[in-house]
Amino acid sequence: MIEILPETPAIHAEAIEDLFDRTFGPGHFAKTAERLREYSASVPEVNRVAVLDGKVIAVCRVWPLVVGERRDKALFYGPVAVAQDHRGDRLGLRVTEAAIEAGIETGWPAAVLIGAPAYFGEIGFSVTPHGRLTFPGPQDQSRVMVRNLAGDAGQLEGLVTAA
Ligand SMILES: CC(C)(COP(=O)(O)OP(=O)(O)OC[C@H]1O[C@@H](n2cnc3c(N)ncnc32)[C@H](O)[C@@H]1OP(=O)(O)O)[C@@H](O)C(=O)NCCC(=O)NCCS
Repeated sequence: MIEILPETPAIHAEAIEDLFDRTFGPGHFAKTAERLREYSASVPEVNRVAVLDGKVIAVCRVWPLVVGERRDKALFYGPVAVAQDHRGDRLGLRVTEAAIEAGIETGWPAAVLIGAPAYFGEIGFSVTPHGRLTFPGPQDQSRVMVRNLAGDAGQLEGLVTAA
């Protein structure tokens, strides 16, 4: 049976890094999204892993952000990855939804995500008006999405940076 759990770094971190390496390959670190993660630490109590027979088969990690001149707090959702053999059962959406519930429970106001609107739209993410959020690098605005957590994501505006 698949279990969805918070990340325990001592148990899961190495397997998560392996899954990211297999999923995204070396080009991954060149992306603008990675500028929001480097030198930052994810939030293990909100991160979620799917575990089957002791193996990590899917993950959603989240990262603290500050947005705009008001320095609003938000969480950056992703990367989301599912091991090749386990794709096709919406497991990426299940781990991301579990991380959303955890974000709400721990009082984070809003989520930001860069990804496919057709996929993440299913769990409440919507594309922001173009230019509302800017990033420390080039970014396709049609993939920039937000979602309410415990607060209002609609008020996020400005430059998104790592907290
Ligand atoms: C994207 C990913 C997490 C989806 O895995 P999954 O949860 O098993 O998703 P499924 O294959 O069950 O797909 C569910 C639905 O979303 C759609 N979908 C999947 N990936 C999609 C994408 N990148 N863009 C648009 N739609 C997508 C599927 O077509 C399917 O639609 P359907 O129900 O109408 O057939 C997985 O393919 C993966 O790990 N990819 C590589 C990493 C990645 O791109 N991560 C996302 C950005 S951080």
